[in-house]
Order: sequence, then structure tokens, then C-alpha cells
Amino acid sequence: MAAIIVLLTLFFFLSISSTTTLASFNIMDYGAKADGQTDAAKPLLSAWAAACGSGKPASISIPAGSFFVSKALLEGPCKSNNIRIIIRGTLIAPSSYSATTQWLTFNHVQGVSVLGGTIDGRGQSYWACKTAGRSCPPGATSLVIHESKDVLISGLRSLNSELFHMSIYGSSGITVQGVKITAPENSPNTDGIHIQKSSDVTVTTSMIKTGDDCVSMGEGSTNVWIEQVSCGPGHGISIGSLGGTPDEEGVQNITVKSVVFTKTQNGVRIKTWGKPNSGFVKDVTFEHVTMQNVHNPIIVNQNYCPGNVNCPNQSSGIKISQVSYTDVQGSSATPVAVKFDCSPNNPCSDLGLQDIKLTYLNKPAESYCKNAQGSTSGFIIPPSCF
Ligand SMILES: *[C@@H]1O[C@H](CO)[C@@H](O)[C@H](O)[C@H]1NC(C)=O
Ligand SMILES: *[C@@H]1O[C@H](CO)[C@@H](O)[C@H](O)[C@H]1NC(C)=O
Repeated sequence: MAAIIVLLTLFFFLSISSTTTLASFNIMDYGAKADGQTDAAKPLLSAWAAACGSGKPASISIPAGSFFVSKALLEGPCKSNNIRIIIRGTLIAPSSYSATTQWLTFNHVQGVSVLGGTIDGRGQSYWACKTAGRSCPPGATSLVIHESKDVLISGLRSLNSELFHMSIYGSSGITVQGVKITAPENSPNTDGIHIQKSSDVTVTTSMIKTGDDCVSMGEGSTNVWIEQVSCGPGHGISIGSLGGTPDEEGVQNITVKSVVFTKTQNGVRIKTWGKPNSGFVKDVTFEHVTMQNVHNPIIVNQNYCPGNVNCPNQSSGIKISQVSYTDVQGSSATPVAVKFDCSPNNPCSDLGLQDIKLTYLNKPAESYCKNAQGSTSGFIIPPSCF
């Protein structure tokens, strides 16, 4: 008993001391102006340097108002692995595009949370350049999490990125929750969240409306959990494109559940280049998926080859196996609602369909299989073509 009291008392004082030693930094104290014009990059970087070097749990405040940030690289490693960035206002990017490929970047950080706020990539003039077919720079991803660990992005709104809204690369333990991502349906390559070479990534309770994939998973995406996400407009939730570069890392243990697609180009998609590779996709679960007027609700396409160059016989080296689709229901905007167009070299194996009901114009839709093997259980509408 006495030991417990001592422990409790100790815990009490430790928790008091940890709150009293929270280091707080406000970008206003470093010269930021909420006028939407004065570049707040330096104040933000100074606040970051102070928090990063503090060796204590630290918080950075970005108050209400509009802050112009030309570009910011928030670099670790830090002395503190508990840094909270609390955003009440909006960070706005330059309105004219440049050669920058990343706007806001975390590199080599651990234990960082970004709470609330809005980031506006102001991609309109960049999209206009692309749409006009002019030669344009590569474009900027709004928020990049690069080679980092244990990062939380919660309650952030991201608008109108030039390129991707968020990219998670070479990282692990990344949680994205309650975010709202918005760009027009016709804005080119404005993917919501792109994940690559990363593990233990969770995306939950988020709303994504874009001109490209809502979530895309590139090579080396493992242990990814996506739940309660609404997607549309956009191109759906995709694994791929894979196999565009030689010797890619595999994609494994992906769960996508309780998601809703509204008028998207695809629902749940796996897309690989039709050319040699040693990569793979396995252990993927799609469940409790609602389709509302989706062009390709369930689709595997192993024939991707824009321009038709270097794709001998359109045969993909990526092996797809153990992919299950459970409780996928709703409406397709085209007659073929289930399409497995797999590789002649590497047929898809162990596909599983359970409780599928997809209609086209209120009648059962169709399914299409090429080089696909799998099994079914429960009700299957349209009938499977395995
Ligand atoms: C699969 O990923 C989830 C997280 O998305 C994780 O909890 C689970 O342990 C992983 N399973 C395996 C076999 O690694
Ligand atoms: C492509 O297909 C042709 C015949 O269909 C075959 O003779 C040839 O070996 C194939 N090439 C490759 C690279 O698979």
C-alpha cells in the first residue's frame, strides 16, 4: 500500500513537472504577421529550431489568421521527441509556382503532432500551366513527411495543392486522422495522400475530394490501415501504380474498411505497369465499401503502359495474391463493375469475393476476369468469373 502511495505521489509530481516544463513557442514572437503577405517561413523555422533544440516536450503555436509561407523544411533529428504544432489559422503557399517540389516538409523527425489548421497550396496557376500543355516544373507536394517516425496529423484541412496534398515517404508510425482534403475534380495529379516505402500508416475519419487518387500506395507500403474515409470526386483508393521502376519493394498487409466512394473514377484499385518487375502485392483486405455511381468499383489493371513503350506483351512482373473483397455494395456507372485484368506471366491468385452487390442502372452489373483465380462466399452480384 505504502509503495503504491509513493508511486502515485511520484507520478503526480512527474506529471506536474512535465506540464510545467512544456516549452511553448509562438511564431508571432519570431516576427510572423497574420497579413497573408509577409513571409512567415523564417519565424516558423525559428520557432521550430527552438522547439527542436529544447530537449523538452514543446509546442509551437500558429494563431488565427492567414500566414504566407514561401517554403519550410522542418528538419530533425530533434532533442525533443514530443513536439506539437498547434495551428489555428491558415498557411498559404505562393500563388505563382516555382521549381519547388515540396512546400512544407518534415525530414528526419520523431514524435511530432500537427493539430488543426488549414494549408492552402494555391495550385490554380500551376494546374493552368499543365492543362494548357505547356512545359511546367514538377510541381510541389503541400505536406511531405520524409524519413520520419511517429507523426500525427490531426484535424488538418488541405486545399488545392499543386501536386499531391500529402506524401508519406520512408516513414513509419504515421497517423492521419480527421483531415479534409479538397481540390477540384479536374485539377491534375492532386492526389490526397500518397504513401511509399512506409509502414504502419493509419488514415482514419477523413474526407478527400480531389482530381486524382484519394489515397495511393506505392512500392514498399506495408501495414497500412485506412478506415472511415469518404472519397469523391477523385480516382479512388489505389495500390499503384507499381512496377514503373525496376526491382520494386512489395506492398503487403493493407486494410481498407468502411469507406464510401461517390462518383469516383475507381473504387478500390490495384494498378501495375505491364512490364517486368520483381515486386508483389499480397494480403490486402477491402471491406464494408459503399460505391455510389463509381466508374470502376472493383478493378485490378496490370496493363498500365502510357505511351506503350517498353512494355513487352503488356505482361506485368508484379505478382498479386491474397486480396479479399468483403461487403462491397452499391452502384457502378459502367456495365463492368468487377474487373480483374491480371498478368499473363503472374496470374492473380487467392482473390476472394464475399457479399458483393453491385448494380448498373438498377440491374446487376457484369464482371470480367483475365488470368485471375479466386473463390467466393455469400451472395455475389454480379456472378463471379473465376
Ligand atoms: C498488419 O498491419 C496492421 C496495421 O495496419 C498491424 O496491426 C498488424 O499487426 C499487421 N499484421 C502483420 C501480420 O504484420
Ligand atoms: C510476346 O509474345 C510472343 C507471342 O505471343 C512471344 O513469342 C514472345 O516470346 C513474348 N515476349 C515476351 C517478352 O514475353
